Amino acid sequence: MLISKELQEGFNAQIGHEFAASLQYVNIASYFDADSLPQLAAFFYRQAEEERVHAMKFVHYIVDAGGQVRVPGTEEPKYDFQSAKEAVQAALNWEVEVTKQINDLMDLAISQNDHIGQDFLRWFVTEQLEEVSTMDTLLSVVDRAGSNILWVEDFLARNPIVEEGQGAEE
Ligand SMILES: [Fe+2]
Ligand SMILES: [Fe+2]
Repeated sequence: MLISKELQEGFNAQIGHEFAASLQYVNIASYFDADSLPQLAAFFYRQAEEERVHAMKFVHYIVDAGGQVRVPGTEEPKYDFQSAKEAVQAALNWEVEVTKQINDLMDLAISQNDHIGQDFLRWFVTEQLEEVSTMDTLLSVVDRAGSNILWVEDFLARNPIVEEGQGAEE
């Protein structure tokens, strides 16, 4: 077995966080979709897919390392957003939180001299820079648009801030 009990526990918890993010992003996407904002909706549907891919990376790693997968239950995601800004701010807060979780897992892998685990987690460390930065950009665009949310749609149509299929590889 190439994974310690502690890291296995942490990775299983992270599977829950990634799936929870996926569900949260489906709610945010459908909030925009229902409001006839297809670009914002597509952006968050894409994020939801990415988070599912992240969860599955942890699943496959635990199996490959000879551990036991135990997908935890997740809390009901938030659905009652009052504004685009509130929804995007919630997403940014979530990504900052996930970055801390990934850093904590990396700290644990380092403290255990688990080099294979560190190598696996490195992908997530880099990915979080992308995730936080993308969400931060989107928040500032939404902020600048103020009450003219169609300007955000126009911005996203002209400047896709997340490329198609990004994060879906591997
Ligand atoms: Fe993620
Ligand atoms: Fe994410």
